[in-house]
Amino acid sequence: MKVKKIEKFLSEDVIESRIKELAAKISSLYGNEPVCLVCILKGSAFFTCELAKRITSPVEIEFMSVSSYGSGTSSSGVVRIVQDLGCSIEGKHVLVIEDIIDSGRTLSYLMQNLKTRNPKSLRLCTLLDKPDRRQVDVRVDFVGFVIPDEYVVGFGLDIDQQYRNLPYIGFAKIEE
Ligand code: IMP
Ligand code: MG
Repeated sequence: MKVKKIEKFLSEDVIESRIKELAAKISSLYGNEPVCLVCILKGSAFFTCELAKRITSPVEIEFMSVSSYGSGTSSSGVVRIVQDLGCSIEGKHVLVIEDIIDSGRTLSYLMQNLKTRNPKSLRLCTLLDKPDRRQVDVRVDFVGFVIPDEYVVGFGLDIDQQYRNLPYIGFAKIEE
């Protein structure tokens, strides 16, 4: 798949101010209670760091890597845990941090899986949401931006592992 051009969509400043708002909401929800942020690698690494820096509640940061079989720009629905959490989440407030919810399949699987581990609470925060593409219902607690059905890259999001390091989010225009 060849990328023809990246069309700027969300600037660094716009992303940063939205993250500040999300962090304020999250901090007021958890208050002084500790919360375990579960960063879903690799896409949400940038988002998790920027968000965590601005949350005032005590946070623990854990990482998990999942892959949904399938390549290119769509997921198959078969999800595999590539790297599991390094700790138990039993009795903890858990906030899953995702980069984007597309079909909803990855998160639907993951949230069910984490629920069986008996956290005190389990919530979901995503930077981007593409509701037009939803195949499976997922309850999302915090959303950064609702976006149209376009393939986006940057700020952690990739296309074939490229463009994650762009400081902004853009639409990847693919060569036909
Ligand atoms: P879902 O299971 O279809 O919701 O897929 C979610 C995963 O697909 C995300 O965590 C991303 O890794 C990837 N993904 C979906 N849409 C995009 C996109 O527009 N840009 C980059 N990655 C995407
Ligand atoms: Mg991802």
